[in-house]
Amino acid sequence: MKNEINIGLLGFGVVGGGVAKILQDHQEDLCHKLGVPVKIKRVLVKDLTKKRDVALAPEIFTSELDDVLEDPSIDLIVEVIGGTREAKDAIERSLRAGKGVVTANKDVMAESGLELLKLADENKCDLFFEASVGGGIPLIRTLEDGLASDRISALTGIVNGTTNFILTKMKHENKSYEDALAEATELGFAEADPSADVDGIDAARKMVILASLAFSTDVNLDDVYVRGMKEIKDGDLELAERFGYTVKLAGSAKKDEEGIEVAVEPVLFPNSHPLASVNNEFNAVYVYGDAVGETMFYGPGAGSLPTATSVTGDIVAACRNLMLGVNGSRLHAPQHKKKVKDDSQKFARYFHRILVKDEVGVLTKLTAIYSAHGASLATVVQQPEENVAEADLIFITHQISRQQHLDIMNELKETPEVIGVQSHYRVEGEA
Ligand code: HSE
Repeated sequence: MKNEINIGLLGFGVVGGGVAKILQDHQEDLCHKLGVPVKIKRVLVKDLTKKRDVALAPEIFTSELDDVLEDPSIDLIVEVIGGTREAKDAIERSLRAGKGVVTANKDVMAESGLELLKLADENKCDLFFEASVGGGIPLIRTLEDGLASDRISALTGIVNGTTNFILTKMKHENKSYEDALAEATELGFAEADPSADVDGIDAARKMVILASLAFSTDVNLDDVYVRGMKEIKDGDLELAERFGYTVKLAGSAKKDEEGIEVAVEPVLFPNSHPLASVNNEFNAVYVYGDAVGETMFYGPGAGSLPTATSVTGDIVAACRNLMLGVNGSRLHAPQHKKKVKDDSQKFARYFHRILVKDEVGVLTKLTAIYSAHGASLATVVQQPEENVAEADLIFITHQISRQQHLDIMNELKETPEVIGVQSHYRVEGEA
């Protein structure tokens, strides 16, 4: 029986610093829960000369991964380096060295999760990744354990803290996109390269992880339809508000007998929808299960201590397994062969904002295009523009397929009276 658990911490940035703080501040509670102390034995960093405001002995820092992996007293590796190549290599080497891994790395888990979980199983090691999705919200464990007996049919939610923070600041504090992004970066929410946040890639990676687990299949990034924040045009937030909606960059994953569909895109949520009032860096995910019905999980989606809470939660789980000698004993192979729906099988309501020449007959001509594509309209509104010769037409459809939506967009772009399709959104919920 072990009398202490030693950790090798790879990376000491926003999340790594939070992990060290929690392990230190909550040591007494952790020791009570596990029966033994949990210590950080080595810390891998790039720059040994960097000043760090932390109560860890300077000699435990190293810039050599081998110093960590070859230390036989280290039981568990915590990977919070971020990025892909170096982090994946470190995870692989740790597992091959027989050391369990806790990672916060959504990039690696989205791209190579199944491969790494297989490697973990082969080496009888745990590989836990709670912090890869939803910051401090225990979503992965909820899917793997809490809802393990149910059949999940859909997940929908806000899984990127940075974009939600930016949209909140733009809507409620009239901040510019640039100022709000700078603030999110300053607070440690944004990725090292924030284009991953604003282009929807970070959220897409998280949806890959969630959908793979929820549907027990091997979803990958190419299966996700991605539209980022840049698709939200000037005036859209106010316009959406006028129609009773809030714009959120949201992820969705659905499964039915025809297959799965996974998307990340700006979505209009009715203001009465709980996701419309999820603000700042908070995340929230709805999970629909055949048996449980509708559940919602909410909490801080980014930031040092919330994310570190998920990492340290995984450390506790891995330590318990080590103490009981049951580490690496989960089955990770996906149950189902993946079947991805095509655009004609995906249904939603759509909001279209179209700038047109303000001429007699334009509205009739455009509504005829919707009819010709079999799309029924729930709302048609004309908004005056500063230029009196132009007008903004707003169309909200009833349920149509994504293919119908795309065909309508294409035909509108070819129509001489249309100056431009300003923006278009999926609308959540029924009319
Ligand atoms: N950049 C990420 C976000 C961090 O804003 O959600 C948490 O994964």
